[in-house]
Amino acid sequence: MARPRVYVTRHLPGKALEYLADRCEMTVWDGELPIPADQLRVQVANCEGLLALLTDRIDDELLTAGPALRVLSNMATGFDNVDVPAATQRGVLVTRTPGVLSETTADFAFTLLLAAARRLVEADRYVRKGEWKTWGPETLLGHDVYDTTIGIVGMGGIGREMAKRATGFGMRILYNSRERKPDLEQRYSMSFATIDDLLAESDFITLHAPLTDQTRHLIDERALKLMKPTAVLVNTARGPLVDQEALYQALNEGWIAAAGLDVTDPEPMPPDDPLLTLRNLIIAPHIASASVATRSRMAMMAAEQLVEALDGRKPKHAVNPEAWAGKAR
Ligand code: DGY
Repeated sequence: MARPRVYVTRHLPGKALEYLADRCEMTVWDGELPIPADQLRVQVANCEGLLALLTDRIDDELLTAGPALRVLSNMATGFDNVDVPAATQRGVLVTRTPGVLSETTADFAFTLLLAAARRLVEADRYVRKGEWKTWGPETLLGHDVYDTTIGIVGMGGIGREMAKRATGFGMRILYNSRERKPDLEQRYSMSFATIDDLLAESDFITLHAPLTDQTRHLIDERALKLMKPTAVLVNTARGPLVDQEALYQALNEGWIAAAGLDVTDPEPMPPDDPLLTLRNLIIAPHIASASVATRSRMAMMAAEQLVEALDGRKPKHAVNPEAWAGKAR
């Protein structure tokens, strides 16, 4: 039987490429930057499977260019880079990689939270610039994390891991999500709050919601003005959840104390973005899931789901299971 043809849009960590090469006719984009859209359209022309990243825009034009495509395996838990209705209409099954990155992403969100609260990046710069002249009773005073209130927006796998970590810091936990999670409320002694109450009462607000029409600019001027002047905002979800112009004003004018961002809008953030001039912003280039083990697991999960679906076995994490009916052979 002919092996399926698959295209992979970047070199991947771990053993995922070996796994695919053993089972498929595989081609890999070997550039360090994302493959340009016009070249990707050429590459998918005869492929049955595509393993894509969050930097690849999978739209109707791309799907039209790949009439044989049966499966798109997205190596991410988020899938806002994919036009899912267009894929479903064409019978292309879309899969994603949730779960395997929850702990690692929560570790990093907590890293940003602690670093922003305790001004770690400012402190590092201060020492390197030779400004450390003495121990000062008022030098680089930050905000405590223990015994404060954290507001977790989104209670999926990553939100839950944040609650687990916050418990260790003795934090009061508020959360907001589409659905209430009574079992987690009990396990982590946390309370559901309206988004406005969560913003007004929390010392730390951390975002773990998907990007949808409902969550775009969830944190806008109004939301930032509801927060405490000592509040710290952390975003490891998707950049467009935050209105960055409003965030600039909030940080610059002291509506809130600090922010830690792992995601921005756009990505990459242009080096002349005004946010980068602020001392109370900590920023990272979308690396919350970037541990060797986690990225290797994400890549392998994406590869396995691609092969499963091409073999006619239903993958566990299909975004549009309704497209499966047309795929099963
Ligand atoms: C995801 O999986 O959606 C993350 O943003 C990748 O780090």
